[in-house]
Amino acid sequence: MGSNLTDAATAVQVLKQVVENPEQFTSHAQEITSLARRAVTTLETPFEAFQRLAYSALPLVTTRIAQQHQILKTLTENAEQNGRSTSTAELAKKTSIAQPVLESLLEYMATQHIVEMVTLQEYKPSRRSYMLLDPLFTVGVAHFHDHCLPAHTALNSFLKDKGGARTSFEKGHHTDTDFYEWLDSRPEDAGVFHRFMEMQFSSLPTWLDVLDFGAECGRDTTADTPIFVDVGGGNGQQCVSLQQRYPDIKGRIVLQDRPRILANAITGERVEKMDYDFFTEQPVKDARAYYFRQIFHNNDDESCIQILKSHIPAMGPSSVLLIDDKVLADDAGERAEYTSGLGVSMLCMFNALERRESQWRNLLGSVGLRIKDIKRFTKFGDSVIVAAKD
Ligand SMILES: C[S@@+](CC[C@H](N)C(=O)[O-])C[C@H]1O[C@@H](n2cnc3c(N)ncnc32)[C@H](O)[C@@H]1O
Repeated sequence: MGSNLTDAATAVQVLKQVVENPEQFTSHAQEITSLARRAVTTLETPFEAFQRLAYSALPLVTTRIAQQHQILKTLTENAEQNGRSTSTAELAKKTSIAQPVLESLLEYMATQHIVEMVTLQEYKPSRRSYMLLDPLFTVGVAHFHDHCLPAHTALNSFLKDKGGARTSFEKGHHTDTDFYEWLDSRPEDAGVFHRFMEMQFSSLPTWLDVLDFGAECGRDTTADTPIFVDVGGGNGQQCVSLQQRYPDIKGRIVLQDRPRILANAITGERVEKMDYDFFTEQPVKDARAYYFRQIFHNNDDESCIQILKSHIPAMGPSSVLLIDDKVLADDAGERAEYTSGLGVSMLCMFNALERRESQWRNLLGSVGLRIKDIKRFTKFGDSVIVAAKD
């Protein structure tokens, strides 16, 4: 069925309105963005489709440059303080990147709406420039560019010939240590990664919005009851959130991780910090909750079983495991680019995966754990799995 000119003109008109006044369309944002993406892939010519594919790493690479070399900062400061655009000559002086190189980079960035072109020698910030200066996206871009991208790029050669590497991460970074050991000797990278972990979901609901922790784990406790053990808890932001949500709850709150991470934790006095390797026997016995956020998606089934077996002996009759991870649907259907991409990224970084509900049931069932409940709290499948001993 061919489209007539009026339909095409209307589509163009509506899309222009979306671009000019996005706030009027927020109620249908998801549907519109999903359809607009599909419209691109169906309407573009094979030649254009190939070009998009060929340069697909460049938005991340050029954003990293624009952040690290203060290009976005300079553009936004000049726009805000002096209401003016910025010349490539001024940027060349500030960044020590040669002007022709900058012009080539900025011209590309303008095609991605990372910046806005005024002339070939003048640029101003776009909406996206401001977004990318947010601390969350600054550390996020640094993490994906510096840590993940070399691992993603090495996946094909890793699958063809491992060459002694255990993961695509090891192959891409020419190292024989896993990601967390690698971070141990790179404090700046570790800072970036853990800051990203701390902030990455700050705009989304959390497990505390769907699980009544007080009722599930906080009844009849004393000051000595271990109520919450955050295993591999990183900076400890979940211990902080729990305390904020339940300021009067009685009991011990314990943050466990590798020693270097604990040194920079953001928790206050009340949280006990404990150096602990989760592949070894859990030393805190009979806790009400052992909480794992984004731990299992870093591990293959064999390692997950080892982590679970390290905890089962510590669990008492009122203990639960709280696993905060993605629980993906078992049926075929539209998937978010984010969750499917994250699954591939976990493959590259750790030979691991994002799991579907049936995979979680098989994994936990294989060590005799019963899933009491799965509570979803985002549209991306973020869920808290409540598991107990059979
Ligand atoms: C993906 S991060 C998640 C951090 C935190 N749970 C969160 O969601 O923000 C994985 C965490 O596991 C920790 N980790 C890695 N291997 C570990 C091990 N063998 N024992 C204890 N913690 C470990 C890392 O240091 C890191 O903090």
